[in-house]
Amino acid sequence: MRAVELIERKRDGGRLSADELAFLVRGYTAGEVPDYQMAAFCMAVVWRGMDARETADLTAAMVATGERLDLRRFGRVVDKHSTGGVGDKTTLVVAPLVAACGLPVAKMSGRGLGFSGGTLDKLESISGYRVDLTTREFVAQLERIGIVLTGQTADLAPADGLIYALRDTTGTVPSIPLIASSIMSKKIAAGAHAVVLDVKVGRGAFMKDLATARALARAMVAIGQAHGLAVTCELTDMDQPLGRAVGNALEVAEAIATLRGEGPADLITLTRLAGAEMLLRGRAARDRRAAERRIDRALSDGSGLAKLRELVAAQGGDVRMVDDPALLPKAPHVETLRAARTAHVASIAADEVGIASVRLGAGREKKGDPVDHRTGIVLHAKVGDRVERGAPFAEVHHAGRPGDAAAIEMIRAAFRWRATKTAPRRLVLGRIAS
Ligand code: URA
Repeated sequence: MRAVELIERKRDGGRLSADELAFLVRGYTAGEVPDYQMAAFCMAVVWRGMDARETADLTAAMVATGERLDLRRFGRVVDKHSTGGVGDKTTLVVAPLVAACGLPVAKMSGRGLGFSGGTLDKLESISGYRVDLTTREFVAQLERIGIVLTGQTADLAPADGLIYALRDTTGTVPSIPLIASSIMSKKIAAGAHAVVLDVKVGRGAFMKDLATARALARAMVAIGQAHGLAVTCELTDMDQPLGRAVGNALEVAEAIATLRGEGPADLITLTRLAGAEMLLRGRAARDRRAAERRIDRALSDGSGLAKLRELVAAQGGDVRMVDDPALLPKAPHVETLRAARTAHVASIAADEVGIASVRLGAGREKKGDPVDHRTGIVLHAKVGDRVERGAPFAEVHHAGRPGDAAAIEMIRAAFRWRATKTAPRRLVLGRIAS
């Protein structure tokens, strides 16, 4: 087999067999297929696509480059994943709630990517919190406390890490088969039996429109079916940021407030949606109403918050920050943005807010950059809200760096105003499930 022939076939719209895809993926991971050939192949896939069988085979080939965890002795283990957005701290709330309901949650999360935040960066706002557990520690902790939130170990789907880094620098990220196989290879390798995927749609997401998001959801459900993994995709709005906080420590504080019953309405809605679906997929609840009741109970009786505390302690984090979020890292400066006249918020460009948060240091301009856990934005108004002249609509937490003034102006400009009332945005846009 020769890599160039496989690239040419895909370039011309042909299909590749499971063996041929395994040859390319295995060869690339072993350093036998060079970057330029893999990049050319990815670009051919961007243009020509892949059918469901090829996408499932590509996923299998990526899983086969590393170990696959066997978590069967824990009963049904459920994972949750978001395709990425701005202000999306749902995992920090949902995972402890579901674990508090008795269903094991084993989750490997990622770092921020572009303007979208990452759970690992958020968790590292809690001093001491370790995101580099070994496979042995991962399994032992799941056994002990029923919840793990860590980074992907190097042994799981290593091909994905390599191919993703190549795609990031060759303009080959936006491809449904490549995104679907990338996400699902990690889920399959991590050993979950079911996964609830939040497919974000809108300006602050990879998928800008509902039709593309639906196609991605269908591709991931099909991969799950081919690999014996139950998959639910919830399609949810990411045109404005989720909740009120954007930025690592600010989002951890909002997640803790939510577990104390003081969260913003949109975050609570998504938490109940994903949490109930995880309980159903994990066969830990009879029906949706029973599942929602259990999530509500874990929210109101404090058991979700207690589980987060247990998780933080188990992974070496400072639990005093969970007990008193005022101890989380704090930016030295807070600039309050006030409305120039009384008006309603017509839209908040999530991508602009995300880019501004990166400029404030909360995300990375390039791979490997450090993040400033203290900085970010707190929205005082969301789409549909009326703001009186002179009242605050946002707060910018910054470190006083030279570029901060431009980032603050970007946040101001991300808000669009209207004299008349605008309807709040619809949050849940659809559902595709196996
Ligand atoms: N997230 C992933 O894990 N992979 C992609 O390709 C895109 C988003």
